Formats: sequence, structure tokens, C-alpha cells
Amino acid sequence: MKGIPVSTTVNGDDVEFVCDGRETLLDVLRNHLGLIGAKEGCGTGDCGACSVMLDGQLVCSCLVLGAEAEGREIETVEGMADGEKLHPLQQRFLEHAALQCGICTPGFLIAAKALLDHNSSPSESEIRYALAGNLCRCTGYDKIVRAVRAAAGDVRRQQKARARRKAAAQN
Ligand code: FES
Ligand code: FES
Repeated sequence: MKGIPVSTTVNGDDVEFVCDGRETLLDVLRNHLGLIGAKEGCGTGDCGACSVMLDGQLVCSCLVLGAEAEGREIETVEGMADGEKLHPLQQRFLEHAALQCGICTPGFLIAAKALLDHNSSPSESEIRYALAGNLCRCTGYDKIVRAVRAAAGDVRRQQKARARRKAAAQN
């Protein structure tokens, strides 16, 4: 079968690849681009381990074809840290021991980031609802929820600091 050339953006970088028409975005990320953060848990859209952002929407990359990435913007767990500085969610997951085997963790991080990008003051119910598509067989979820609540506080502090800097620059 003839390969399909695709031009896309992954974590802010322009990326080109050639894929088989049957390959999923998860296959492409892991097998063509070396981005192995997203995991294959079920391959049927049920576990959330393969979660990535596609044009700002949370998707299961096992349900998206690689060819559908043409002209789109993809964000993966590899793009969350700012150089050596972990995203608050990554830091708080570590501090709250919100992972054990870690298979589900990239998917939880991306799903939680999708929530905090739109709502930095989520209630516990909102956090649990936002993460309902992500399954974890190890942690029992409570530590994950606590980590997301703590990270939300960090994100709010970052937002306030940015607003203060912006106001100072305008004076
Ligand atoms: S591997 Fe995609 S949802 Fe489970
Ligand atoms: S930490 Fe093992 S499945 Fe979540």
C-alpha cells in the first residue's frame, strides 16, 4: 500500500511523516516519531492511556488515524514540561505518589491538563468527571485527584503571577 505523507505540528514543532492508511495516530506517535509517552492500553477507546490533544481537544489517539493529523496541532505528554521544569501536574503527581506502574499516567496528565487549561479551579466532582475516561488499575484514583487539586492551585498562582507581571509592564 502506498504511504500517505502527512505534515503536522507536534508539541509546537513542524513534523512530517509517511504512514499507512490503517495506522492510528498512536502508532505514528510511538513507531514513527519516537514519542512513546502515550500508551496502548485497550486500543478501543476505553482506557484513556493513549490520550493526546488534537487541535486543543482531548482525544484517544488509538481512535484517530495518523493521516487525520494532516494540518492539525498535536500535544503529547512529552510537551508538558518546560525544558527541565516539570509541569505542575507532573510535579504534583510525583509528590502525591499518584502513580504506581505508570502505564496510565501520561493519559491522566494530558486529560488533567485539558481540564486545567479551561478551568483552573475545578471542584473534586469536576476533576473526577474530567478524568472519567482514564482508567487506573493501581492507585485507586484518590491520589490522582489530590495531585490534580494541588496542581490547580499551582496553575492559579502562575496565572496570578503572569497577570501581575503584565500589569507591571503596562505601568
Ligand atoms: S489505548 Fe486508546 S483508549 Fe485505551
Ligand atoms: S498507575 Fe498503574 S494503571 Fe495507573
